[in-house]
Amino acid sequence: YPLSERNTFGIAAQTDWWIDYTCDADIDRLVKDEFFQECRVQTIGEGSNLLFLANFHGILLHSEVQGITELNRDADSITLRVGSGMVWDDFVAYTVEQGYYGAENLSLIPGQVGAAAVQNIGAYGVEVSQLIVAVHARNYRTGETRVFSERDCRYAYRYSIFKEPDYAEWVIMYVDLRLQLTPSFSLEYTALSKVLAEEQTTPSLRTVRDTIIRIRRSKLPDPATVGNAGSFFVNPVVSADKYATLQADYPSIPSYPQPDGSAKVPAGWLIEQCGYKGHRDGAVGVYEHQALVLVNHGGATGTQVAALAEEIIGRVRERFGIELHPEVKYIL
Ligand code: EPU
Repeated sequence: YPLSERNTFGIAAQTDWWIDYTCDADIDRLVKDEFFQECRVQTIGEGSNLLFLANFHGILLHSEVQGITELNRDADSITLRVGSGMVWDDFVAYTVEQGYYGAENLSLIPGQVGAAAVQNIGAYGVEVSQLIVAVHARNYRTGETRVFSERDCRYAYRYSIFKEPDYAEWVIMYVDLRLQLTPSFSLEYTALSKVLAEEQTTPSLRTVRDTIIRIRRSKLPDPATVGNAGSFFVNPVVSADKYATLQADYPSIPSYPQPDGSAKVPAGWLIEQCGYKGHRDGAVGVYEHQALVLVNHGGATGTQVAALAEEIIGRVRERFGIELHPEVKYIL
């Protein structure tokens, strides 16, 4: 089964098997299926955060659980249960149409609702964990059903418990998200507030969504044209001491201060300083408008992308003494 249309990097790998699930009965069937139970299984959403290093020998399991239902509503908020297979940005578009506040800063992030809950997607000052009330999951080996509260998910920057190898057998069916019914915006993120101020835009769900979409399009390549998986690395967090040293050497170094005094440094800046912005090596490269994004100009293999990533990690380590870690998950 070909995967080139199933991963946004556009890597032409293959998988032995591909299985869609749409409901609990599908999971029940897989739990009883001897062939399935003997196979290696990997879950996959839209493939927007994966890098295939080789053909996949096993089963890729993909959610097609759809639908949005209203769970409850009070004076200020509404809670929705959303199928894990829904395209994330379709969900955001729906909340904006309905007049529900909270998801608009997460406009245009590729991927599915279930994967968003695993990855704790975030952008422009908002993380999806701020909206999540609960995650409904099934274990595809034991058939067990479990509702993970937001706390159970142990959310942190681009992290949830579902990333732990011990939780690899859990697939997400539904995610419960709470949105606000009265206007409340997160407009503190500089890249966003600057554009809104410059254009004298009055914030509304529609204008914030449209602005975010424009900012993203100007910085991030469209996977339909240039293969990529968004930010290739997570932004590294450095200690207050380390940050002070960096600042002495590089007074213009940008950072996102953390509550404990440490600082998150934009990996894109570190990579750009190493001269990689717009770099190209055959079919692979670094995006010209955002150095945090590795791109497949066409025909690249996963190994070539990983080799460029290794080279960049080495250069950033040498120059800054900072270790970059891929945000993208490598699939062997
Ligand atoms: N910068 C550079 N050169 C570059 C890129 C960035 O100098 O080539 C510096 C600039 O100073 C810029 C700062 O880095 O002001 C921050 O850049 P940007 O606003 O693009 O954000 P980011 O830290 O590079 C993170 C997320 C993105 C998210 C944006 C906006 C991570 C790993 N990435 O990127 O998420 O869209 O913030 O909130 O945290 C993703 O995860 O795939 C993703 C795209």
